[in-house]
Amino acid sequence: MSKLWGGRFTKKTDQLVEEYTASIMFDKELAEEDIQGSLAHVTMLGKQGILPADDVEKIKDGLYRVMQRIHRGDIEFSISDEDIHMNIEKTLIDDIGPVGGKLHTGRSRNDQVATDMHLYLRKRVVEFVDLLHKLQSALVEQAKANLDTILPGYTHLQRAQPILFAHHMMAYVSMFARDAERLQDSYKRINMLPLGAGALAGTTFPIDRHFVASQLKFDRVYENSLDAVSDRDFILEFLSHASIIMMHLSRLSEELIMWSSTEFHFVELDDAFCTGSSIMPQKKNPDVPELVRGKTGRVYGNLIGLLTVLKSLPLAYNKDMQEDKEGMFDTVRTLQGALQLFAPMIATMKVNKDRMRQAVNQDFSNATDIADFLVGKGLPFRQAHEVIGKTVLYCIQQNKYLLDLTLDEFKQFSDLFDERIYDVLQPEQVVNARNVYGGTARVQVAEAIARAERELEQTSVWTAEYSERSR
Ligand code: ARG
Repeated sequence: MSKLWGGRFTKKTDQLVEEYTASIMFDKELAEEDIQGSLAHVTMLGKQGILPADDVEKIKDGLYRVMQRIHRGDIEFSISDEDIHMNIEKTLIDDIGPVGGKLHTGRSRNDQVATDMHLYLRKRVVEFVDLLHKLQSALVEQAKANLDTILPGYTHLQRAQPILFAHHMMAYVSMFARDAERLQDSYKRINMLPLGAGALAGTTFPIDRHFVASQLKFDRVYENSLDAVSDRDFILEFLSHASIIMMHLSRLSEELIMWSSTEFHFVELDDAFCTGSSIMPQKKNPDVPELVRGKTGRVYGNLIGLLTVLKSLPLAYNKDMQEDKEGMFDTVRTLQGALQLFAPMIATMKVNKDRMRQAVNQDFSNATDIADFLVGKGLPFRQAHEVIGKTVLYCIQQNKYLLDLTLDEFKQFSDLFDERIYDVLQPEQVVNARNVYGGTARVQVAEAIARAERELEQTSVWTAEYSERSR
């Protein structure tokens, strides 16, 4: 059989045009969703009396067989059939004969492809919420194991104030919680049915779009047929959420890479997640976080790529829109890989508590606390700041830390100092003094962990329910 749309043509398509315009090489990934959509569509055609019942049965049987053959990998997709939609329709017609040609009644590839993408992405969104959940759980476990691990906290990458390593891990738990929430929120815009929009204007057949929506477990149908076939916002949203997740992963990557260096030596990534050097036998490189940091670029690129494809594009379908797929698939794969690796990498990471503690003992990250001590004695904060600034300068000149100073030395700077400062300056005390909601005090972090665990529990319930709904 020649092209499904061959009637109007007198010449064969140029070979190069065929190769250039085909999308089957990548949109074959939508095979399952395409058949799922077709099954719902043909069921509706039967219910509406648009097709007789036995035609519907033949088509459905045929579609199931195509699905099985695809799963077995015994269909050769062909470039001359352009895309997954026509490859499947052609296979169906080859199998069950001309009755297969009735499947496309009241439908266009324009509303068909949009439907496939919605079906595809809603599954992925649920999977990503689950992958984020696994990573968050690994971070929470590290937090629980490190409720007494103190390390210097940094601003400007300069030692600032000591914090719990647990607190640092929990910051990422919060970041990934926002990511999961964004994905969950986007579900309602993904879970909409474009089918029934036809090419752009609707269809002359008495179809029932709401029935198709309920068959496919979509919550709504698109209000406007032009919008239904033109809209790729839901893909853009996914690409932008994915970009933010990668940005978060790249920040964590950067910290892991830094912390793994000999200079920091705060953590050690498990051998299973590192690689060696072909020349330097001593090397153990943090390739996974490095590559995740690097791959963040391509995920951003896919977002900018599609935004640019859609910019100024007139309604409704234009072939430009076929460019929505490769970037989306690439982002899905890239993000899957990163999240799948990060959860076990975090879980197996060795935290060098002693080294962190040593770092805290050799810095001035407790300076704010003696300033606060003087404030407690009635000195205005600005003056206290000045006094401690001078004290720190003296320490640097004497090659000492604050805890090395005698009380007499302290008193050179202010006679408000007394014995109690030696307690105030202890790292545990410094940490626990930040006893505000969301602060780094041990009790606060323990509560934050408990809250996060409850939220993760909620997310599991959501994931179970929605993975059922999105199948
Ligand atoms: N392969 C096409 C795409 O992915 C399917 C829609 C084609 N529609 C059309 N009118 N040519 O965008």
